[in-house]
Amino acid sequence: MSAEGFHIPLCPTFILLHKKHLTLRKFASKIMHCLYKIIIFLLFLCTQGAKSEDPLGEFCNQNTNISTGGKLSANIDKILAELALKTPSTGFVTTTYGKNQDQVYGLAQCRGDVSTEDCSICIQDATKQIRQRCPNQADARIWYDYCFLRYANKSFFGEVDTTFGIFYFNVENVSDPGSFNKELGALMDHIRAQAVMPKEEGLGKGKSMLSPFVTLYALVQCTRDLSEINCAQCLAIAVNNFPTFCNSRKGCRVLYSSCYVRYELYPFFFPLDSNHTGSSNTVRVVVYT
Ligand SMILES: *[C@@H]1O[C@H](CO)[C@@H](O)[C@H](O)[C@H]1NC(C)=O
Ligand SMILES: *[C@@H]1O[C@H](CO)[C@@H](O)[C@H](O)[C@H]1NC(C)=O
Ligand SMILES: *[C@@H]1O[C@H](CO)[C@@H](O)[C@H](O)[C@H]1NC(C)=O
Ligand SMILES: *[C@@H]1O[C@H](CO)[C@@H](O)[C@H](O)[C@H]1NC(C)=O
Repeated sequence: MSAEGFHIPLCPTFILLHKKHLTLRKFASKIMHCLYKIIIFLLFLCTQGAKSEDPLGEFCNQNTNISTGGKLSANIDKILAELALKTPSTGFVTTTYGKNQDQVYGLAQCRGDVSTEDCSICIQDATKQIRQRCPNQADARIWYDYCFLRYANKSFFGEVDTTFGIFYFNVENVSDPGSFNKELGALMDHIRAQAVMPKEEGLGKGKSMLSPFVTLYALVQCTRDLSEINCAQCLAIAVNNFPTFCNSRKGCRVLYSSCYVRYELYPFFFPLDSNHTGSSNTVRVVVYT
């Protein structure tokens, strides 16, 4: 159980942004949410045998409701089994199953720096959790730090999709925003350029020493079905959101269906720089556009 998988001890403030109108839930409902998480956490401790990590987020498209037990649902199970089997060895798979109105398209990808074993565990969790969380939808997506999985009853391969985004940001701010943002911008430009080089398969990562004691780490990744130009577009949209959601934050993540962008003031990608893990008291924001 990694610190990343569970945010229970923190019970972070949960903010829902719907069409740019900020709705803060009432204090009481936050407490209930927190208690609920603690109960789930305790249940988790009691059921170690069947453990499966919490995702960073999921999207169940409510306009694609289907019945469980139907042909489409059976084809989704087929797709998930295939993705679980094939993704770890290559880190990326797209596949389709079924015919006509029951055809399903699936995509799974692991973060380019994670091991085959971590990839396998992540995809297993994803295939279990996505069916529990979106049991009646033909279009569903699930995000973890180490992997992403998606299926739909229409093709989405090669298309940039930034309609649904999840943002995680550190509640702490940097002390020197001016120079920090300059360094962050330069590092982002560098790794975005790296990500669109064909041999990098959509992955860019790097670090920048801000001082003898502080290092900035950043990673970007597109899904491998995207062309270079589409990858560049997705990453540009993600980084353009920095002023809104990541402004001078010590760490931030943007999770889209087509790309992932993250920076932290501690090492988080492999090979890990050291054993150090920084504070990551994060807040989650969900955005539909
Ligand atoms: C789909 O089902 C959910 C409940 O599972 C419901 O809230 C939602 O309104 C349904 N959507 C449509 C378009 O019927
Ligand atoms: C996908 O499934 C939904 C729900 O059954 C249906 O409304 C929609 O038309 C389907 N889309 C395609 C492209 O088949
Ligand atoms: C960080 O800055 C934001 C405004 O940019 C502010 O709302 C927030 O309270 C600050 N966080 C801390 C821990 O000072
Ligand atoms: C990391 O931890 C291992 C053992 O847990 C230790 O041997 C190693 O020296 C540590 N590395 C650093 C950079 O602290």
